[in-house]
Amino acid sequence: MGRAFVYVILGGGVAAGYAALEFVRRGIAPGELCIISEESVAPYERPALSKGFLLPEAPACLPSFHTCVGANDERLTPKWYREHGIELVLGTKVKSADVKRMTLTTIAGETISYKILVVATGARALKLEEFGAKGSDAENVCYLRNLADAARLVSIMQSCSGGNAVVIGGGYIGMECAAALVTNRIRVTMVFPEAHCMGRLFTRKIADFYEAFYESKGVNFIKGTVLSSFENDSEGKVTTVILRDGTRVPTHMVVVGIGIRPNTSLFEGQLTIEKGGIKVNSRMQSSNSSVYAVGDVATFPVKLFGDEIRRLEHVDSARQTAKHAVSAIMLPEKTTDIDYLPFFYSRVFTLSWQFYGDNIGEVIHYGDFFAGRFGAYWISKGRIVGAFLEGGSREDYEAIAKAVKLKMIVKEKSELEKFGVEFASNA
Ligand code: FDA
Ligand code: NAD
Repeated sequence: MGRAFVYVILGGGVAAGYAALEFVRRGIAPGELCIISEESVAPYERPALSKGFLLPEAPACLPSFHTCVGANDERLTPKWYREHGIELVLGTKVKSADVKRMTLTTIAGETISYKILVVATGARALKLEEFGAKGSDAENVCYLRNLADAARLVSIMQSCSGGNAVVIGGGYIGMECAAALVTNRIRVTMVFPEAHCMGRLFTRKIADFYEAFYESKGVNFIKGTVLSSFENDSEGKVTTVILRDGTRVPTHMVVVGIGIRPNTSLFEGQLTIEKGGIKVNSRMQSSNSSVYAVGDVATFPVKLFGDEIRRLEHVDSARQTAKHAVSAIMLPEKTTDIDYLPFFYSRVFTLSWQFYGDNIGEVIHYGDFFAGRFGAYWISKGRIVGAFLEGGSREDYEAIAKAVKLKMIVKEKSELEKFGVEFASNA
């Protein structure tokens, strides 16, 4: 038994929602498109899970953050999919794919065939067990990737109000969850192996600002070490986190954010995989011409970086690559090569930053690090290749984005420090 569709989107996350809207705008007929998702809800804006969803008062909840509200576009509720004749196959994991036969098989045994497949399977959270630790299945240890994880985190947070939490990992999840825990009146100790937080992006000077801000909110940092083991009570709940340097941290709960692994396994041996993702061309088309890949799972050429292929793990990239793939599918002649400007952001407490481009080359900081309005430029071969800004206005962010997009020439580096955002405003 099986069903057949012209277009199938595999995965029901951010990229799936933006792809669906683009399919409708480009003019698909009812019954042509199907979305298969392991999650039991229609596509939503995943960033809400570590921000509004974790607020103690008036938290964001579905249906308010279905895609595509994150880009100030239409909100696609289950009704929207019905009205446009799009089949939403929810709560359904695909267990195998056969790109030669153009079929997917679900965990329930159904075979779904396609003419064009858009792979939007995103990524899964890495488990502590993959780094040799044990016991992260305890009932007060949380990971955060999907709505079910977030609902579980909220319920554990509520039961630990006034208590302590250990956050393992100093990346995006660690920083955003630590802020949410503090807001929920939980004392936080953050543990990570690097010398400073957000090691993949922040310079030491930028990290110092955020760490000092977090410390002012009561967060304690233990850097340069990792978890060794957990100590549990008779019910199996973690009570103490023991670190490799011997430190013992008593706790009521643990949040783990130690990175992700893209969900490529269905296609290994069938499609070209590079840099951990499904390798696609500038039309988001994989090594099999009927299969496109978008979002966290895609490794695609970034024109700005001389067509070097990159895999990006950010929401804007998921939205733009999804739209580009659908445009290439529906209007092949009119679709040019993707020309994407990498864009990352975060919001914690009252802080908010944006970053554009690449963090390579020499860094020049500017602004007032005490007042919380500062930034940095990354310069390579005499040009601006990356720009970071905390506490900017919309116009400021547009200015730094444009400076990176145009790869502004820097004749006098001291001017970057002196003029800060104003330097970019002249782009
Ligand atoms: P996404 O993970 O959104 O969706 C993948 C979907 O595929 C899921 O629904 C999954 O269940 C499904 N799936 C996977 N395998 C399947 C299978 N075999 N069968 C069926 N379904 C399957 N970025 C940013 O720029 N700013 C931010 O503030 C944040 N904040 C943030 C918070 C949290 C908590 C997370 C986890 C992530 C972020 N991100 C972010 C990252 C951003 O959310 C991420 O880059 C996008 O969600 C990627 O979109 P995708 O559609 O590629 O994957
Ligand atoms: P990450 O890659 O941002 O950070 C991982 C952190 O874990 C790093 O500090 C790393 O050093 C640390 N780490 C690695 N191995 C460790 C170990 N064995 N023990 C302790 N620490 C270890 O990944 P993340 O924070 O887990 O985020 C997951 C995904 O969610 C990423 O794709 C991220 O882009 C996305 N996300 C993005 C945002 C945002 O853009 N604002 C917010 C939340 C999540």
